[in-house]
Amino acid sequence: MDVLRIRGGRRLQGVVEVSGAKNAALPIFAATLLTSEPCTIRNVPDLSDIRFMADLLKRLGAQVERLDPHTWRIQAGSVTHRAPYELVRKMRASVCLMGPLLGRLRRSSVSLPGGCVIGPRPIDIHLKGFSKLGCVVDISKGYVEIDGSRMAGAEVFLGGRHGSTVLGTANLLMAAVLTPGRTRIECAACEPEIVDLCRMLEVMGARIEGIGSPSLTVDGADSLQGCDYAIIPDRIEAGTLLLAAAITEGDVTVRKMCASHLTALLDKLEEAGLPLTVEPTQVRVRSNGRLRPVDVITHPHPGFPTDLQAQMTALMSVTPGLSIITEKIYPSRFMHVPELQRMGADIAIDGANAIIKGGNRLSGAPIMASDLRASAALVLAGLAANNDTWVQRIYHLDRGYEKIEEKLQALGADIERVDQSAIPESLLDPA
Ligand code: EPU
Repeated sequence: MDVLRIRGGRRLQGVVEVSGAKNAALPIFAATLLTSEPCTIRNVPDLSDIRFMADLLKRLGAQVERLDPHTWRIQAGSVTHRAPYELVRKMRASVCLMGPLLGRLRRSSVSLPGGCVIGPRPIDIHLKGFSKLGCVVDISKGYVEIDGSRMAGAEVFLGGRHGSTVLGTANLLMAAVLTPGRTRIECAACEPEIVDLCRMLEVMGARIEGIGSPSLTVDGADSLQGCDYAIIPDRIEAGTLLLAAAITEGDVTVRKMCASHLTALLDKLEEAGLPLTVEPTQVRVRSNGRLRPVDVITHPHPGFPTDLQAQMTALMSVTPGLSIITEKIYPSRFMHVPELQRMGADIAIDGANAIIKGGNRLSGAPIMASDLRASAALVLAGLAANNDTWVQRIYHLDRGYEKIEEKLQALGADIERVDQSAIPESLLDPA
């Protein structure tokens, strides 16, 4: 198995480009099931999660072709309704197949994906929404069996105790676009990935009003057509690269991003004293080495994204002073903290708060990635640490960051993918 070896302490410098958004691409791939016509999807990131979704679509009967590393052609001429556990368990986002299957076939049988390391991730709100559309929902033998033979437009409220639900909104939208009558979705997620899905559905002929707001109105169509659609840039990758520049006191321009999707992060970085030059599609970070601690609370969009919380925690752990990072979306999403502590970070967890006494110079060590964003945080910590950091279980990273080590190398980082046998024995068993 591969690991990342990072020799920290290099100041990142240069220009880097962001790939397409994973969390937009996944529901957009699922939406291709809504038509029997071909859909060409562009600016798709080259990631293992995308390949999982392509395998699922093939299993459901679609013809899936990768025209080049970032362009896919999908044609779901005929489709079956059952997504099996062996594929679904590899990726939680598979739950967003339910909506398009219901729209297209009025029937869906999708396995429940099982546990997730970032905390409980129920889909009760998705199921409540489908029930409102007239579906009969039953959980049997690990599968969610949904009968949508009596589906009709309705009023659906998607709020939960942690706010709106992103994939829940995607699911309800994809069901509603082919459901007779008018559906109003209240407390819809406003994330840019949902806006992107709406835009793609519009190109397919769907009628949606209120795009980008928490109140969406969908007038169901009889059928949808194929499309040619390019996915938005990945705001979480962009944010991670900006934070990599900040943690190495670098001078980096992140290009092909959408600055308006990251306002909350940019605001925090400015508050932390980081000089930024912001243009619509690029942001330059030019560190002056004088960072201040900031408090951060994660919220649904346009608030500070939970998917950048771990990376921000890494930055604050090297920033002199006290900061508190509060996680409101997944209150136990702190799996990166014990690994950062192994590197010398001074962080205490109190409920959903990480209390960080920042400023310690981190010391490289073999560390274990637990999920996608935790992995990114550990890479950032490694870039700032003295001596070598060895990040293990990097398959998590490969789910969501395209060629991350190549992008960081091009900015001057000393990072390489090596076999885990390269980790010095003395670090694994110092005795
Ligand atoms: N929730 C419920 N019931 C539901 C649905 C959600 O209680 O039926 C709760 C969740 O447990 C969580 C909160 O509501 O506390 C928000 O969850 P949401 O449904 O919005 O998350 P998601 O749609 O499953 C997407 C992203 C995640 C990202 C979250 C929040 C994709 C494929 N995944 O998940 O991305 O953290 O939104 O922004 O779009 C990642 O990329 O690393 C990642 C985890």
